[in-house]
Amino acid sequence: MGYVTKKLPLISVPEGILAKTLGAVRKRAAQATDINDHLETIFIECLNIQPRLIVELGVGDGESTFVLERVAKLWKSKLISVDIADCQNVSFYRHRIFIQKDDIAFAREFMNFCNLNHVEPSIDILFIDTSHLYEHTVEEIRDWFPFLAGRSKVIFHDTNMKETFHRKDGSTGAGWDNQRGVIRAIEEYLGQSFDEETDFFQMVGGWFVRHYAHCSGLMIMDRYEG
Ligand SMILES: C[S@@+](CC[C@H](N)C(=O)[O-])C[C@H]1O[C@@H](n2cnc3c(N)ncnc32)[C@H](O)[C@@H]1O
Repeated sequence: MGYVTKKLPLISVPEGILAKTLGAVRKRAAQATDINDHLETIFIECLNIQPRLIVELGVGDGESTFVLERVAKLWKSKLISVDIADCQNVSFYRHRIFIQKDDIAFAREFMNFCNLNHVEPSIDILFIDTSHLYEHTVEEIRDWFPFLAGRSKVIFHDTNMKETFHRKDGSTGAGWDNQRGVIRAIEEYLGQSFDEETDFFQMVGGWFVRHYAHCSGLMIMDRYEG
């Protein structure tokens, strides 16, 4: 059997499984949602890290869960999904734990939760897509980043929120103006301003940052440490 390692040394997943999973993600991404343009990007981006622990803040209808669950399945990673609403049933992945709680309140209990559930409190992939409000995003960065593993990946959706968002195929959807809430919080954390209406790739203070402006914006930040 061919292994993807032949082409991409970092990915030790059988090629057939990877192709099948990518196909499923593409099929899901064909349905127009507020995040569909980013689903394949999220999946591909998550292949360069073999996560043990993925934390998803903001589950909603489960678009991001669909992708993160498939990433998790490749390496039997644990997926912890958090939402204030009941989103238990968007996924039945056996290593997923759904927590119905405010994500800031849960961050305060996270260490204890990890101890009780025999989980190392070291997050390899952190996905954030919740209120999109500035103060809340500041709190999410403050309270969740301390749990990031030395080499880790953070993904924010809605870094370019406007009343109307544009997909790559030219279609549009209704959004709302969050007053740059998400991107502003990231700018403050990194000490760097960004033009969220553009795509960019940049090294900032130990982070490799990629930004995709369409479909309300997606920012991916890889930290390399230790
Ligand atoms: C845009 S939806 C998430 C969409 C989802 N990521 C997807 O791809 O389908 C935002 C979600 O964040 C949740 N949320 C908002 N504030 C929250 C908070 N303080 N803590 C946890 N979840 C929150 C909402 O209940 C909602 O389900």
